[in-house]
Amino acid sequence: MSVLTARNLRRVYDVGKHQVRALDGVSLDVEEGEFIAVMGPSGSGKSTLLHLLGGLDQPSGGEIELAGEMVSLLSDHDATLLRRRNIGFVFQFYNLLPTLSAQENILLPLIIDGKKTKAYEEKLEDLLVRVGLTNRRNHRPSELSGGEQQRVSLARALITEPKLLLADEPTGNLDSKTGKQVMELLAECAKDLHQTIVMVTHDPKAAAHADRLIFLQDGKIQKEVSFLEGQSISSKARIILDSLESGE
Ligand SMILES: Nc1ncnc2c1ncn2[C@@H]1O[C@H](COP(=O)(O)OP(=O)(O)O)[C@@H](O)[C@H]1O
Ligand SMILES: [Mg+2]
Repeated sequence: MSVLTARNLRRVYDVGKHQVRALDGVSLDVEEGEFIAVMGPSGSGKSTLLHLLGGLDQPSGGEIELAGEMVSLLSDHDATLLRRRNIGFVFQFYNLLPTLSAQENILLPLIIDGKKTKAYEEKLEDLLVRVGLTNRRNHRPSELSGGEQQRVSLARALITEPKLLLADEPTGNLDSKTGKQVMELLAECAKDLHQTIVMVTHDPKAAAHADRLIFLQDGKIQKEVSFLEGQSISSKARIILDSLESGE
C-alpha cells in the first residue's frame, strides 16, 4: 500500500527577473514500511522535495496523495490536520523549543493536536527507552548534547505514530560517531516499528540503511537504486559510492 504518492511535483521560485526551478517534475511513490534515502548535490532540490511532501511549502504544480487523500482537494484546515496526524519531521537543527524539557518537547505534537497526553504515557516511555533518554527527560535542550537533542526530536516525530517520517539531513549537524548512533536508531525504527521513512542525506553510509535510493539533480530524479533485501550495509555503501563517483 502507498503511504504517499507525489506526481509531477514542481516548485518554481521567482528570484528577481529570474525563475529558479527548485523542483522540476518529480514523481514518487512511497510504500508502507519503505525506507527511502534522497541524495544529490547541494541545491538539487532535496529540501524543497521534503518540504513539499510534508506540506511546509506549497507546490507550483503537481499532486500529492497522503494516506489515501488528495491533499489539493482538501481545505487548508483539513490538509493541516491530515499532515499533523500522518507525518513526523526531523530536521538538521533539531528545532526543539528551548524553554521546554525533553519530555515536554516530545509531547508537544499531541498537545498541538488537542490530544490528552495521559493516553500516550506508555508510548512516551517506550520512545524514551528507544532513544536512550529516560534519565534526561527533564533536561532542557541547552542541557543536552547535539546527539541527544536529535534523539529528542526523533521521539517527538514518532509520538503521534505517523504513517510517514520525513528527515532532512538528520545527521548533518552531528560528528560522525554521534551521527552513526542517530542513524542506527532511525534504521531500527524502520525495522522494528516498520516505520515508513523518507530521509535526505549526503552521507553514503547513512543512505546505506535505506531500501531505496533516489538521486536528485537540478530538481529532477536522475537515478533510482533499489537494494535487495538482506544486502549488507557495506555492500550497499559501496554501490552508493560507485554511483556518486560515476556521476550518472
Ligand atoms: N526560498 C527560496 N527562494 C529562492 N530560491 C530558493 C529558495 N529555496 C531554495 N531555493 C533554490 O532552489 C534550489 C533547490 O534548493 P534546495 O531544495 O534547498 O536544495 P538542497 O536541499 O538539495 O540543497 C536551489 O537552487 C536553491 O537556491
Ligand atoms: Mg537541503
